[in-house]
Amino acid sequence: MDRAGLVEYVRTQADGVLSTLGPDGSPQAAYLPITATDRGDLVLDVRTTSRKVANLRRDPRVAVVVGGRDGTTLQCEGVADLPDGADRDACARAYLDAFPQFEASLADPGVVLVRVRLTWARLGDYRPGVSSSQDVDLRVGIRRVRADDWRSARALRLDALRDEDAGIAFLETYERAAAEPDVFYQGRTARAADGDDVAQFVAIDGSDWVGSVTVITQRAGSVDYHGRPVERSRAAVVGVFVRGEHRGSGLVDRLLETGAQWAHDLGFDLLTLGVHRDNARAQGAYRRAGFAPSGVTFESTIGPELEMVRHLRPGVQRDTSDISPPVVG
Ligand SMILES: CC(C)(COP(=O)(O)OP(=O)(O)OC[C@H]1O[C@@H](n2cnc3c(N)ncnc32)[C@H](O)[C@@H]1OP(=O)(O)O)[C@@H](O)C(=O)NCCC(=O)NCCS
Repeated sequence: MDRAGLVEYVRTQADGVLSTLGPDGSPQAAYLPITATDRGDLVLDVRTTSRKVANLRRDPRVAVVVGGRDGTTLQCEGVADLPDGADRDACARAYLDAFPQFEASLADPGVVLVRVRLTWARLGDYRPGVSSSQDVDLRVGIRRVRADDWRSARALRLDALRDEDAGIAFLETYERAAAEPDVFYQGRTARAADGDDVAQFVAIDGSDWVGSVTVITQRAGSVDYHGRPVERSRAAVVGVFVRGEHRGSGLVDRLLETGAQWAHDLGFDLLTLGVHRDNARAQGAYRRAGFAPSGVTFESTIGPELEMVRHLRPGVQRDTSDISPPVVG
């Protein structure tokens, strides 16, 4: 089960037991209606005067069990908070979608929403004839774009081009990309969604697009996107971007690994990229993903760049045990 499956499970079950830690560290449990946001945070509402709220303010660690009546159950552990601003709005939306009958309660100043960000979850299925349990994969999901994703692809691209490092990261400018008509993004996303020439892989946190990597195949005898002749067939990584709040999380490694796997499956043994000489952070991420400078340097529209390469045979040689396979289609 992944996060999307967890969200569906929690919304279907709609109740569970929340366990908090009392003042002397002893557990205290309460049975409550529970739902989940699109990104898989649990949401409950509680009275501000309750023991739960005092406990959470002192120690935010919680355990929650969702479901149980039908023989299936989701055991969860996480960290709770009392969200405000846009975070509260997202939780309130999820809560009202699930429990419209509690609208008045949400408007009551004596009631607060609790959000639980999960650190671990396990689904158990103990219905007659079944006995299984599986840990839920709580990581951000990665998949290839679909043609109808073009609006989200456009929005992520424009945000990337407004990044403070965009000037040493992308050949395209924000102004130029923002002026492109919808049909440009429809065509670009459709090409990246299907076929063996180009693939865009995106990381999606709930409904938020938070990262992207595009892989372009370059056949010997063609010219690359810098206008340089391609001597040996290879795949090239472009458009690498991870939103600020997901940087340093290892997400870029998973995106690059997904792209490398795609190129490898097409039979390419060489993955290359160009990176600005001063983009130390990107170079660090690429080195960690198995890329090394080839020794080739060149001047592009953004300034001095160096080429980095990664060899993909035999197999994709890095440890991929913690990488989810790309969901293509
Ligand atoms: C490039 C990018 C995708 C990397 O993802 P990330 O999650 O930020 O990468 P990490 O935090 O894992 O950092 C990569 C490495 O650089 C190091 N690093 C972090 N900040 C750094 C900085 N300011 N200067 C130098 N190195 C830095 C990290 O410690 C890490 O090295 P480590 O593996 O030894 O720990 C992301 O920063 C990004 O989207 N940047 C803007 C767009 C961009 O530059 N794209 C690349 C175009 S070629």
